[in-house]
Amino acid sequence: MTRRLEGRVALISGTGGGQGRAAALRFAADGAVIVGCDVNDEAGAETARLVRDSGGVMTTMVCDLGDPEGARAWVDGAVADHGRIDIVYNNASAARFGSIADLSIEDWRFTIRNELDLVFLTTKFAWPHLAKQGGAIINVASTAGWQGSRGNGTIAHNATKGGVIAMTRQMALEGAPLGIRANSISPGFIITPGTRAFVENPTVRAQLTASIPLGRPGEPEDVVGMAAFLASDEAAFITGADIIIDGGTTAC
Ligand SMILES: NC(=O)c1ccc[n+]([C@@H]2O[C@H](COP(=O)([O-])OP(=O)(O)OC[C@H]3O[C@@H](n4cnc5c(N)ncnc54)[C@H](O)[C@@H]3O)[C@@H](O)[C@H]2O)c1
Repeated sequence: MTRRLEGRVALISGTGGGQGRAAALRFAADGAVIVGCDVNDEAGAETARLVRDSGGVMTTMVCDLGDPEGARAWVDGAVADHGRIDIVYNNASAARFGSIADLSIEDWRFTIRNELDLVFLTTKFAWPHLAKQGGAIINVASTAGWQGSRGNGTIAHNATKGGVIAMTRQMALEGAPLGIRANSISPGFIITPGTRAFVENPTVRAQLTASIPLGRPGEPEDVVGMAAFLASDEAAFITGADIIIDGGTTAC
């Protein structure tokens, strides 16, 4: 494999989770220096171990990125350690689900904080560092930003992921004169710890899989290859785009 991210400093959030772990491993294999972060101390540390065991370079921090001070500390720590930031991969998120009638105000605010605030905060603090030499932002949105979900109570998640897609366009416009490219990825149903509850319920799993033309749920690796491409110079003319990775679901 070409090491197309050789020496680039990549901040990847949520590296304790399914896609974040796969992203850290993939970006490290492409030569990037990984600065990970998760609220989950143990899972984040395990990813750093896996990356180092595979010959990659990774440090990690325990940070709550929904808290401005947490996001600032992560970015400042990366710059203190490495002197620069080339890639920001806003992957972390946590959502709560419920119908419009049932979702509590607390759950609505939790979702906005942990799916939208953290993207803004991390990007805001990293921005002046990216602007020094240019760089790439990859935001993880979702097909929930494009479509509703019958019976699954996704109102807050729809709002945040639609917001991530919209914010990405603005990042692309403000970033273009500075050499910063920004793109989002919208995964469909991907098997990770974050979707364990759906996967373990055979009825819901069967329902979700039936709506996927390619006939299977996605794996984290189906997503992170695209992220590595978007972060690399091969995507030098791509900015402001949203790439859907859903096995064809939204084609229906
Ligand atoms: N899995 C899917 O089917 C799917 C579909 C569409 C979009 N996505 C998106 O993909 C991204 C990765 O999801 P995943 O499936 O790997 O989930 P995951 O739950 O396995 O991983 C998310 C990680 O983010 C961390 N995190 C949550 N809030 C945080 C915060 N405030 N500060 C720091 N870390 C925090 C969690 O601890 C967790 O380790 C998310 O943005 C998610 O919305 C997932």
